[in-house]
Amino acid sequence: MTSLRGWSRAALCVAGIAMSGSAWLGGAVTAQQAPAAPAAAEVRGNVEHGRYLVESVAMCGECHSTRDPQGNIVAGTKFRGGAMPARVPWPADWPVMTPAIAGLPAYTDIQAVRLLTQGAIRRDGTRARAPMPRFRMSPQDAADVIAFLRTQ
Ligand code: HEC
Repeated sequence: MTSLRGWSRAALCVAGIAMSGSAWLGGAVTAQQAPAAPAAAEVRGNVEHGRYLVESVAMCGECHSTRDPQGNIVAGTKFRGGAMPARVPWPADWPVMTPAIAGLPAYTDIQAVRLLTQGAIRRDGTRARAPMPRFRMSPQDAADVIAFLRTQ
């Protein structure tokens, strides 16, 4: 029951993104992604809180960017992916690249909410490899993060 409730809350915030997304994005959200919930306006993705979560809490750009030989993030590459700088000393399927996340173009709102609320489950249902953190955000925080990344 809890997970069902979680999903319906996620659906609400996705609808919130869809509604506010039309202002930011010219409304590129399909009817399939926007459930006709009357309370849809109740939860909306908040860009400024999303910026705070991405820039100051979850630190997505620390990994999803390209670094110069001194370790500084190269200007203009933030959220645009890059080489993973380190390997772990234990046996692991360690990714060599992080993908671009600016705009989250490959993800629907629903898929992105799942990724951020259910421990890094990708579009295809598999789990992203470490060190992608196993985020367990609240649906509202996930909506806020998505709303911000859609502006990048
Ligand atoms: C500690 C480093 C790190 C941080 C911080 C991080 N990521 Fe990632 N992320 C990764 C790595 C590495 C991958 C690639 C995983 C793979 O290839 O299996 C990845 C993959 C992804 C993907 C693509 C999943 C797919 O479909 O393959 C998305 C989207 C993503 N991250 C979003 C985010 C967001 C949003 C944040 C912040 C809220 C974030 N990441 C923070 C390391 C990180």
